[in-house]
Amino acid sequence: MTATPRPYNFSAGPAALPEAVLQQAAAEMLDWQGSGMGVMEMSHRGREFISIAETTERDLRELLAVPAHFRVLFMQGGGLAENAIVPLNLCELAPAGQVDVVVSGAWSKKSAQEARRYADVAIAASNEADGHLSLPDPARWRLRPSASYVHLCSNETIHGVEYATLPDLAALGSSAPLVIDCSSHILSRPVDWSRVGLAFAGAQKNIGPAGLTLVVVREDLLGHAQAVCPSAFDYKTVADNASMYNTPPTYAIYIAGLVFKWLKAQGGVPAMEAQNRDKASLLYGYLDGSGFYANRVAHEGRSRMNVPFFLHDESLNAAFLAGAQQRHLLQLRGHKSVGGMRASIYNAMPLAGVQALVDYLKEFAQRHG
Ligand SMILES: Cc1ncc(COP(=O)(O)O)c(C=O)c1O
Repeated sequence: MTATPRPYNFSAGPAALPEAVLQQAAAEMLDWQGSGMGVMEMSHRGREFISIAETTERDLRELLAVPAHFRVLFMQGGGLAENAIVPLNLCELAPAGQVDVVVSGAWSKKSAQEARRYADVAIAASNEADGHLSLPDPARWRLRPSASYVHLCSNETIHGVEYATLPDLAALGSSAPLVIDCSSHILSRPVDWSRVGLAFAGAQKNIGPAGLTLVVVREDLLGHAQAVCPSAFDYKTVADNASMYNTPPTYAIYIAGLVFKWLKAQGGVPAMEAQNRDKASLLYGYLDGSGFYANRVAHEGRSRMNVPFFLHDESLNAAFLAGAQQRHLLQLRGHKSVGGMRASIYNAMPLAGVQALVDYLKEFAQRHG
């Protein structure tokens, strides 16, 4: 009997996971490697789970070439909680308690709003005036010399705007650490750690299930939390306890570990980056040449992971989505704040999935153009 192929799922997150990972998780659901326990049923302090967590961290470090002077933390609360946890931990790095935020889309705008509860926030640059369609150019950022850190969302999931290279703050005259929210493009391309103080990512796009938040933080940034910071959110406490100060999201860590093994088997981050480049150029190339659809983001800022697009005739949106569903192309509706469509093409989306989407886009345009 041949199994029916799974639909291609373009969700922005929680997003599709590699099928091989889901199958392995299913096979191990009742009994993880002869232990007699499913992973969800294991103590986080037992040797079985500790070995899972250690392997997961080791594989992540290898995949992203994380230097030894960075700590990897498995936390909870998602990207939005990090918008509070980061200032609670870092805004006292410098006496003035200042945080500079680059607004490149909806998520960094939210980060600025949340940080205002804890810090003196200034907007270093913003693309809000043009509808978040361009990339705020680092050469024009207004950085304060006494800022504790600079916040950047390196891939804006809703607006589809991505920094292909991270800014070098030192070259811009700032000695503040750069904090990146890389939730929606982590592991899709390498990270230049020499430019990063702290990176955080909710897991539910390119890592695994919702519930796990990954934090990679330079060691010298630990130990500066405000007195009111909850202990479970103090990076130093989490690091000193190997992410086991309180119960971590054990099952999500396990699935992340399976995803990391899968990524290594695909050839690691360089192989993923090459495939992501191919997927993005196939999709943008078709959209740009179609005359029927449009992506409005400035070319140099276009995300390889999240591709918002519009039908020129928006009265066809419902028919487009219904036809996509019939073709087993799922979750293409755009974010409600932007409208139109959005295809999220994370690591788990194969080139064949993007090809199937482009085939459908062409067919729909021919039928309705
Ligand atoms: C870039 C980015 N940051 C933050 C968030 C918020 O994450 P969470 O819902 O896990 O709090 C998201 C969610 O999609 C996101 O894409």
